[in-house]
Amino acid sequence: MSGLFITLEGPEGAGKSTNREFIAGRLREVGMEVQLTREPGGTPLAERIRELLLAPSEEPMAVDTELLLMFAARAQHIEQVIRPALARGAVVLCDRFTDATYAYQGGGRGVPLARIAQLEAFVQGTLQPDLTLIFDLPVEVGLARAAARGRLDRFEQEARGFFDAVRQAYLARATANPRRYQIIDASQPLADVQAHLNKALPQWLELARG
Ligand code: TMP
Repeated sequence: MSGLFITLEGPEGAGKSTNREFIAGRLREVGMEVQLTREPGGTPLAERIRELLLAPSEEPMAVDTELLLMFAARAQHIEQVIRPALARGAVVLCDRFTDATYAYQGGGRGVPLARIAQLEAFVQGTLQPDLTLIFDLPVEVGLARAAARGRLDRFEQEARGFFDAVRQAYLARATANPRRYQIIDASQPLADVQAHLNKALPQWLELARG
């Protein structure tokens, strides 16, 4: 595979959506083909699985159901979108990927990391992001931003402690593998975040290409 696989991660309200458009714009400006996508979702079928995952419902979703649905959506997305895009040399810019499973299902829900790793190997084989940007910010700031957006999805309705665990899980992954991860302070004003992205992106891309 000759493309580049970049993932964007972070808690709710970190500005991932705005910044992914910004990053895509910068990459396209320098002539790269960018496949912009997201998880859970990214194909019509995977987006239907996303709806199941995010909709609040009376029947509580078992933790393993949630975990398997995340990977079911991911399997579809990888086969339909990610692998073909990488094979034609595109940059895949994906809003969330398996780091979110480690953070939310692992950190948040307490799923053993070894179980996630098993599913990761099963669904992805050796496929891993080349670069992961973590938009980090204090939990209360992110939750206030998410609440201001309106109706909360099934994850956004979780308690504060869940999001503390999510944040810690992301930071632990970044610390364990500093080569692949870049942590961005998303509590800064948007203009400052984007100035930082602008400046650092070329060097991160070079590092990711190895
Ligand atoms: P978002 O894409 O709008 O941020 O919402 C997706 C939600 O799904 C978010 O709360 C994080 C959650 N999620 C997981 O719990 N595990 C995963 O593997 C992924 C990709 C997302």
